[in-house]
Amino acid sequence: MIAIGSDHGGFELKTHIIKYLEGQGVELFDFGTYSEDSCDYPDIAEKVAKAVSNGEYEKGILICGTGIGISIAANKVKGIRAALCGDVYSAEMTRLHNDANILCLGGRVTGRELAFMICDTFLNEKFEGGRHQTRIDKIHAIE
Ligand code: RB5
Repeated sequence: MIAIGSDHGGFELKTHIIKYLEGQGVELFDFGTYSEDSCDYPDIAEKVAKAVSNGEYEKGILICGTGIGISIAANKVKGIRAALCGDVYSAEMTRLHNDANILCLGGRVTGRELAFMICDTFLNEKFEGGRHQTRIDKIHAIE
C-alpha cells in the first residue's frame, strides 16, 4: 500500500498519478490535499512521512510545486529517505543505492508522462544493500 500526498502545487499531477497507478493495480491512500486551494506542504509531508516511517505504508509519493519543500520537510521524519527525482535514472538509482522510501516530484516541473515512468521505476526497483546499507546507516547516525 502506497501513501500519496501533495500541496496545491502538486494537486493536479497527483490526481493523474493516482488514476495512472490505480489503473496499474497499485493500492494508494491519498493523504490530501483534496483541492487546488492553497495549503502548507509541511503538513502533508509530515502525515505521509510518519505513515511510511511507522510501517503502515510501504512507500510514499509526495508532490509540491517544485518537489523541493515537500522533500525537505519529509526528510525531517526519522527513518525517511525522501528523494526528489526529475528523471528515470535518478529514480532507479535512489532505490538501488539510497533505498529511498518516499519519491518527491515537482508538479510544476515534471511532465505527466515522465512522472508516470518515474513512479513505475521507483515502485519496482529494489535496494541493492551491501555497501549501500553501510552508507544509509551512516546517514541515520547523523544527529
Ligand atoms: C507553493 O506555491 C510552492 O511553494 C510549493 O508547492 C513548493 O514548490 C515548495 O517547495
